[in-house]
Amino acid sequence: MRAVHWLFVVSVALFVCGIGFVVIGARPSRDAAPADAPALTPVASVKQIMGSIVSPGANAVYNAVGSSVTAKGIETIAPKNDEEWATLGNTAAALVEAGNLLLIGDRAVDRGDWVTMTREMMAAGTEVLKATEKKDADAVLNAGSNLNTSCDNCHQKYQRQ
Ligand code: HEC
Repeated sequence: MRAVHWLFVVSVALFVCGIGFVVIGARPSRDAAPADAPALTPVASVKQIMGSIVSPGANAVYNAVGSSVTAKGIETIAPKNDEEWATLGNTAAALVEAGNLLLIGDRAVDRGDWVTMTREMMAAGTEVLKATEKKDADAVLNAGSNLNTSCDNCHQKYQRQ
C-alpha cells in the first residue's frame, strides 16, 4: 500500500514537471522580436555609424573627465552641473544604442565575436551611463578605459581601415 502511494506521488510530480517544461518551452524567447514588430530598414554603413555616433560619442566621454596640467597646476576635468552630466549621459545612451545598430541587418558580419564585441562596447557604454547618473567622474574614467578596450578589440579583429 505504501509503495503504491509513493508511486502515485512520484508520477504526479513527473507529470507536473512535464507540464512545466512544455510551458517554458512554448514561451517565446525574450530576445525574439514580437511578430508584429515594425520592419527595420538599415541605411547607414558601419563606417558611417562609427563616424557619426560611436567615435564622437567615445571622444566626448574621454574628454569629459580626467585631469590636465596647466600653468595653475593640475586641473581636474569633470562635468560641472546637472546639465553637463545629463548631456554626457545622453551621449553614453546614444553610444550604447549604436551597438544595437551594429547588430541589425547584415551589419553583424558573423554571429560570434562581432556580437560579443559589440555587447562589450554596449556594456562599457552602459557603465558610463550609470556613472553619469551617479555623477561619479572616477567611474566615468574607469568605464571610459573599458570602452576604449572594447573599440580596440573589435578593430583588431575586423580590420578597421
Ligand atoms: C563590433 C566591432 C566594432 C566595435 C565594437 C567598434 N568598431 Fe569602430 N569600426 C569597426 C569596423 C568594422 C570599422 C571599419 C568600417 C569600414 O571602414 O567599413 C570601424 C571603423 C571605425 C572608425 C573609422 C571610421 C572612418 O570614417 O573611417 C572609427 C573612428 C571607429 N571605428 C571608432 C570606434 C570607436 C571609438 C569604438 C569604441 C567606442 C569603436 N569604433 C568600436 C568595428 C567596430
